[in-house]
Amino acid sequence: MDTQGLIETAKALVAGDKGLLAMDESTPTCNKRFAALGIAQTEEARRAYRDMIVTTPRLGECISGAILYDETLRQLTNRGLSFAHALEEAGIVPGIKVDAGTRPLAGHPGELATEGLDGLRERLLAYAAMGARFAKWRAVITIGDAIPSRGCIDANAHALARYAALCQEAGLVPIVEPEVLMDGDHTLARLGAVTEEVLHAVFDQLFRQRVLLEGMLLKPNMVLAGLASAETNSVDDVADATLACLLRNVPAAVPGIAFLSGGQSPQLASARLNAMNLRFKSRMPWALGFSFARAIQKPALEIWRGVEANVASAQQALFHRADCNRAARRGEYDPVADAPKRA
Ligand code: 13P
Repeated sequence: MDTQGLIETAKALVAGDKGLLAMDESTPTCNKRFAALGIAQTEEARRAYRDMIVTTPRLGECISGAILYDETLRQLTNRGLSFAHALEEAGIVPGIKVDAGTRPLAGHPGELATEGLDGLRERLLAYAAMGARFAKWRAVITIGDAIPSRGCIDANAHALARYAALCQEAGLVPIVEPEVLMDGDHTLARLGAVTEEVLHAVFDQLFRQRVLLEGMLLKPNMVLAGLASAETNSVDDVADATLACLLRNVPAAVPGIAFLSGGQSPQLASARLNAMNLRFKSRMPWALGFSFARAIQKPALEIWRGVEANVASAQQALFHRADCNRAARRGEYDPVADAPKRA
């Protein structure tokens, strides 16, 4: 195992104030987002959209690494470069989503298991040969009546650890993503308790599978009330609950934590990340950053809508969100200046 190489890549991904851009939506998820805006759901439209993203001027000033989907890694940009090559040219490390999505977990109604371990060793070698230097696997934990079950948490934690060990064997830095869904009407306290149990199980399994903590990154959810909950949480409430949970459960050897956005508005995702860095910077042993998909892409996708003439303004919107999150890493994001303008 190339221990030094893994450590260097993991550190580089969370260095300074940059963060990760998740642009690894599976074809069904990407199509769903396109359909909602009336964009053609074709391979060429997905390629053109991702081309718009990776050619955004100055993106590399804010983004350290971008997570691609299998289809994109095999496509070419408008200039005829592979997407991995185009990212490297922009100073951005190319990564790849390697899980095969979720399926219902047998014997556990309402719960999911992530698949994709079969043949993963060979796929990782192929992805590394295509230029990927890090990988991502997303486990999904659902909150509901009497769920999550211990069986679901353990099955997902075990798969995450097996995946992470295989990545490190292949020289790829694993991003370990145990996502406790924000969908639902649960309280902040409940999401916090579930996240704590999940992170505890994940780090137990990472230890058992001999994963090098210095050569991985964690991609968790923030701790907040469910998106359909009547409970209101201030930005500081979310920052405090999230940091309390992470400080208790994430070993100091992990170089960085990069949040998913999970359906929060882009502005709230930035404001909450900002508050965490502002209030806890001196107490955190790890870098605290972002690996957002929707919270970076959403405004740009709504402007782009599949129309070539909209590319420049979509790129401006994409850069703006990336830059806001970069400011949030320094604790310098200004939520008032970034408030959505009324029409
Ligand atoms: P969101 O930021 O849209 O939650 O996506 C992050 C991600 O990569 C989910 O796997």
